[in-house]
Amino acid sequence: MKNFGRTGSTNLEKLDIQYSMLNTCGDDRVIKGEFAEKGLKMVNRCVLICVAMCLCALLSNCQIEERTKMSIKKEIFGKTADGKEVDLYTLTNKNGLVARITNFGGILVGLEVPDRDGNMADITLGHDTLEGYIKDKVYLGVTAGRYGNRIAKGRFTLDGVEYKLAVNDGPNHLHGGIKGFNKVVWNGRQLQKDEGPAVEFTYHSKDGEEGYPGDLSVSVVYTLTNDNELKISYEALTSKPCPVNLTHHSYFNLTGDATCDILGHILTMHASRFTPVDKTAIPLGNIESVKGTPMDFTEPTAIGTNIAKIKGGYDHNYVLDSAGETLALAAKVYEPKTGRVMELYTTEPGVQFYSGNFLDGTIKGKGGITYNKHAGLCLETEHFPDSPNKPQFPNSILRPGQKYTQVTVHKFYTE
Ligand code: BGC
Repeated sequence: MKNFGRTGSTNLEKLDIQYSMLNTCGDDRVIKGEFAEKGLKMVNRCVLICVAMCLCALLSNCQIEERTKMSIKKEIFGKTADGKEVDLYTLTNKNGLVARITNFGGILVGLEVPDRDGNMADITLGHDTLEGYIKDKVYLGVTAGRYGNRIAKGRFTLDGVEYKLAVNDGPNHLHGGIKGFNKVVWNGRQLQKDEGPAVEFTYHSKDGEEGYPGDLSVSVVYTLTNDNELKISYEALTSKPCPVNLTHHSYFNLTGDATCDILGHILTMHASRFTPVDKTAIPLGNIESVKGTPMDFTEPTAIGTNIAKIKGGYDHNYVLDSAGETLALAAKVYEPKTGRVMELYTTEPGVQFYSGNFLDGTIKGKGGITYNKHAGLCLETEHFPDSPNKPQFPNSILRPGQKYTQVTVHKFYTE
């Protein structure tokens, strides 16, 4: 548009100017449009930057909060009679779940998980003090080994040599003997893993300890994952062929109140068979179906439903359908009052389901609570009892050059 000066501009021109102030055309449109676009872009950018900054601040706040929630604390738990210092590790994951673990016996001292309303409670039986664990005879929360569960008469023959183990349960060997892995002081080390706080315990068991052949180097790693799992991973190496069967022996009570029994807990086992036992709880050697018997937990069933039909209560090895080849779901426990659920995954072929039958009111545990019959339940993931004497059972012999591994995951949520 040719400009002849503003003075004396016609009405039409005035209109055009006004119009052109609102709408631009041609070259003007390009210039004004670019300017406006740039301005808009700048505003947009500023808004974006502000939003991004706010998000970053929010995120880093959350991360800081998560990081501050996620922690490992180490403190002194006490001393053994021979003067060894024992530590207590407190692992907290980003959701506030807490696991307390000691290097005495590789014991899980406490595990706090939320109910369906978010209330936290300790769902394991145990003791408040190291002395309690030193005196303990029922394996509360322990790492059992070298051989968790029973070996008949404490004897087995391996490569033509007969070995005699400590006998500590009637005529049999139980949970590694008189001074099993549950009564020794392990070396402890904190680990900060991506999946959550962790602690590793290592122990060197000497050739001949409790009668077992070979030097055995063992490690157990407890990880409290940010997916609300307590993961227990075991490894072992031996200098001579030896049976190895490491397991975890926590007594769980998902109500969080050990004055209640566990008979109302709903149990599902992914096991359609079990190993029947003799009077001393040694497997007879055969494997039977649970179908149509009080042993059947293939469908969710309250533990108390058929317990009276099982003499003494449940204390049996279930043969997992997964056969122990990969990490697979073995069991689920649901507690209806609190909504707490514990799922159990394992690489092992069996689970000893023990319904706390021998808790007889003589033990005072955490907070001075008396542990009565069925105050807790154990689900011990392991090879079948007495495997060293039962060649038809999955092999439990570790040989030099081989590495023993076992992984068990306890996953918690609510329903
Ligand atoms: C066994 C029970 C035993 C208990 C000891 C369980 O693993 O199966 O028979 O009494 O450990 O606390």
